[in-house]
Amino acid sequence: MTAQLNPRGDVAVLVPAAGAGVRLGPGTPKALRPLAGEPLLVHAVRRVAAAPSVHTIVVAAPATEVEAVRALLAPVAPVTVVPGGAERQASVAAALAAVPAGPEIVLVHDAARALTPPGLVESVAAAVRDGHDAVIPVLPVVDTVKEVDAAERVLGTVDRSALRSVQTPQGFRRSVLIAAHRSAGDALTDDAGLVEKQGIAVTCVPGSELALKITRPFDLSLAEHLLSAGA
Ligand code: CTP
Ligand code: MG
Repeated sequence: MTAQLNPRGDVAVLVPAAGAGVRLGPGTPKALRPLAGEPLLVHAVRRVAAAPSVHTIVVAAPATEVEAVRALLAPVAPVTVVPGGAERQASVAAALAAVPAGPEIVLVHDAARALTPPGLVESVAAAVRDGHDAVIPVLPVVDTVKEVDAAERVLGTVDRSALRSVQTPQGFRRSVLIAAHRSAGDALTDDAGLVEKQGIAVTCVPGSELALKITRPFDLSLAEHLLSAGA
């Protein structure tokens, strides 16, 4: 059954899904690879669409797959599909340009975080609604972290307690994200990085283990396992 989005919602979610998935190994673009029998992108969009504040979803698909992705997602949720770009930042910019008037909160997600719970979408959006210009979900870093030189010689041990791993969805006041993308220089892998460069404060909220990014084959196996365990 197709999910209904909330016409009175105040959130647009951008889902960049145009990457190749090189680190996953040879195959179709990552967002279209199967996880428990359905493409990663279907899992990701279904969870985003289940978040009650979501008004609009815009997916940036691989340029050659736009029609296929439209057909794939039509039974899942009402989504806008645009062609993505060569870098994630270009894919996000293309999706951002397709957001209709209305939503004043824009979340930028990764199709690769296919098991992200709807509750995380809501908590990030709520923090923006509460007045924060930019919000990122984070987890503490669990491993000891060393700084090394080019020869892999240890230079020092970094204070882990001050470090966070960053996930998506990252949430922004719409005007803040538009301004950050307008003045974007080098391609960055996260949108909060662009906003930081503007001198705007970025706030952390607790992330979720389920929002892991499916990057390597191990992550896909882990996601399969989590789904079979009821995630
Ligand atoms: N992405 C995108 N457009 C790009 C590159 C990445 O929309 N040109 C998206 C991916 O589809 C993914 C998200 O950005 O949902 C995070 O990127 P990543 O996990 O690096 O995915 P890929 O780039 O597909 O993987 P790889 O780097 O291994 O090729
Ligand atoms: Mg990539």
